[in-house]
Amino acid sequence: MQIINIGELAGIAPAGMVRRQGAEMSQTGILRDAWLRIEGGRIAGFGPMGEMPGGAREEVVDAQGGMVMPAFCDSHTHVVYAGSRDGEFLDKIEGLSYEQIAARGGGILNSADLLHRTSEEELFAQSLPRVLEMMAKGTGSLEIKSGYGLNPADELKMLRVIRRIREAVPAQVRATFLGAHAVGRGYTHEAYVQAVIDMMPDAAPLADFVDVFCDEGFFTPEDTDRILAAGARQGLRPKIHANELAVSGGVQAGVVRGALSVDHLERTTEAEIGALRGTETMPVMLPGTSFFLGIPYARAKDFIAAGLGIALASDYNPGSSPAGDMRFVMALGCIRMRLTPVQAFNAVTLNGAYALGLGAETGSVTPGKRADLILTHPGWTLTKLPYYHQTPFIRRVFLGGEPL
Ligand code: NIG
Ligand code: FE
Repeated sequence: MQIINIGELAGIAPAGMVRRQGAEMSQTGILRDAWLRIEGGRIAGFGPMGEMPGGAREEVVDAQGGMVMPAFCDSHTHVVYAGSRDGEFLDKIEGLSYEQIAARGGGILNSADLLHRTSEEELFAQSLPRVLEMMAKGTGSLEIKSGYGLNPADELKMLRVIRRIREAVPAQVRATFLGAHAVGRGYTHEAYVQAVIDMMPDAAPLADFVDVFCDEGFFTPEDTDRILAAGARQGLRPKIHANELAVSGGVQAGVVRGALSVDHLERTTEAEIGALRGTETMPVMLPGTSFFLGIPYARAKDFIAAGLGIALASDYNPGSSPAGDMRFVMALGCIRMRLTPVQAFNAVTLNGAYALGLGAETGSVTPGKRADLILTHPGWTLTKLPYYHQTPFIRRVFLGGEPL
């Protein structure tokens, strides 16, 4: 298939580039008035319209001046959950904090109770539409965490549902075992940490990564290290929840274990930035959570100034970010974190792919990568994307070269 008359082909990256860091975050390849060829589900080539190779083409899509860009890569979600927590939304409006809602029996434990009462079939039926909506909004790859089970049977139920979603959709889905999301009902803290460690051999075949909510009131850096060590024994690389509620030590706990990403980071100091420099760990920031909870935004600019890359993700979950719209995440990155549109774009595409372990597979317009692409209506540009952030922009989404 060949897409012709592309007004702006955005997100071009050289072969072999799996993330952008520091000053590179302000760069992306843009070609105006372009064509792009897809073969076998992958990007086969692109170039200026004036130099389009001739010859027979089985299928041509006329972009009519629309933009073509990589599909969004959302590296942090909790979209498999049961029911809703809109009751807590009212508590939040009344002024209760995330921690106060959790202390009243709301929060993660509320979702765990709901999930416990929900059959596997029903959990799949409730969760799949969220993923389909995200895909329709341009997300081509996403991570989904467990962590609303909080006992062996329900954690495995969640992981099996994630596996089913992975098999049901053309988006690339990666699964993370987040048994240590909160202490499960009926356990002491210590007994639950041991229970998570004991779940690891059964969870590992269904998971790509292991995660711990390393934060004040949840799990300590010492708990985290034990759990990550158990994950490592099963071949699971860490992705950590850290520094959302307090300066938790979670960044350092993740970095020493070679975490692929450390996520949230709303509360960070120079020490966290220093710990991340020169590592393979991607800082992932979740501005939708800051927006919804009214907590500080992560200091993205300081990370980039220190030479680091950052990714942005939705954190789509029923408690702190009930939305999976990556264009809005990009807009919050620009409006509230003062990222430039190009920095935010790299954060929701290539760097998101890196934080999914898919940096070599997707997230940029690079020959050989999967053709996970968004074709926009005419007239859109990369800069307009976060600016006109509520205007419908998608004409078609292609995942693995196939239109949705
Ligand atoms: O990433 N911070 C921990 N976990 C989720 C929220 C989960 C929930 O409240 O259900 C988050 O914000
Ligand atoms: Fe999260």
